[in-house]
Amino acid sequence: MCKYTNGIFEADRKAQLMTSPTFKVATFTVDMPEIYQIEVSSACNLVCGMCPRRVYTRKDKQAFLEMGVLDKLIAEDAFRGSYFVELQMAGEPTLHPRLEEIIHKVKSTGVQVGLSTNGHMFPEFLLDLDHLTISVDNLERDIRFRRNIPHFIAGVKAFAAKAASHGRPLIDLQIIELPGWEDAVATAKKIFRNELARSSCTLRTVPDCFITAMDPLPEDQLPVTTDRCFNPWMSVSIQANGNVTSCCFAWGDDVIFGNIKDKTLKEIWEGEEVAKLREEHQTQNYRPICARCYIRNPVALHWNMFTDYRRRESCS
Ligand SMILES: C[S@@+](CC[C@H](N)C(=O)[O-])C[C@H]1O[C@@H](n2cnc3c(N)ncnc32)[C@H](O)[C@@H]1O
Ligand code: SF4
Repeated sequence: MCKYTNGIFEADRKAQLMTSPTFKVATFTVDMPEIYQIEVSSACNLVCGMCPRRVYTRKDKQAFLEMGVLDKLIAEDAFRGSYFVELQMAGEPTLHPRLEEIIHKVKSTGVQVGLSTNGHMFPEFLLDLDHLTISVDNLERDIRFRRNIPHFIAGVKAFAAKAASHGRPLIDLQIIELPGWEDAVATAKKIFRNELARSSCTLRTVPDCFITAMDPLPEDQLPVTTDRCFNPWMSVSIQANGNVTSCCFAWGDDVIFGNIKDKTLKEIWEGEEVAKLREEHQTQNYRPICARCYIRNPVALHWNMFTDYRRRESCS
């Protein structure tokens, strides 16, 4: 059986566990975590108003993922808990000079591969992706400063046409629900009318996930969320410097389980730092980054995105 099929099975099993009324978070842990995302570039060509890049701090500011880190992950079969990996996190992935090779290497492990881009360029090899999110947001009052909007629109249109005839990747035009997002949706629908008429391209909105991170309150005024988060039991994200962290919100040094250059992912997953985060969640004694997080459980969001892609694939 191929890994991809195993991945689907894992996803179904997760769904049952998550919705079971008798499920206790302490009673199970997956053997290997889902790798939710790998940050191939922490560098960026834009400075977006809503992006938390500028509020997180990292000691190790390595801009681009080293090929050695990826080769090590593949050699130790670290992707065996995954089914869909996104090559993004805090920066712009298309800036990595060896992105094409990275896409092919990750795909060779059997997982589906996606990424999110700000659309400043669309190299031909992006056609080898399974899924592509293009960040659109407001095209009239731009919050994505430094963006050349006519160049962006022309690039999206040309790439969407190529993707439609190539049969891949599925494209999501994405708008964050920032003030005025309804107008942004109406504008994008008008501009990308032809592209959205194809089954390979759709428009989605996502909540603004970082309000409490962008406007940090003193610790004693944190709006502590106690909703259950499954990420410490199911998933990791890997920063460009090789640090393994809990999720797509941990862009800085707030949660570091270990570094791929020093240990295997399996050792990290079974190590003290992961156990510590689980203990904090079980006792609801959250560290500030988890207390501020009001999205919770991004592993489930990721999985919903993936199942939605699969539905669309079967319709197209
Ligand atoms: C940080 S970006 C990295 C990829 C690429 N640079 C881009 O902008 O698409 C990853 C994703 O986070 C999204 N994002 C940025 N700020 C956000 C916010 N405040 N709330 C929700 N998503 C956000 C972007 O739209 C993008 O889809
Ligand atoms: S382009 Fe993406 S990574 Fe860069 S600042 Fe904007 S949202 Fe952040």
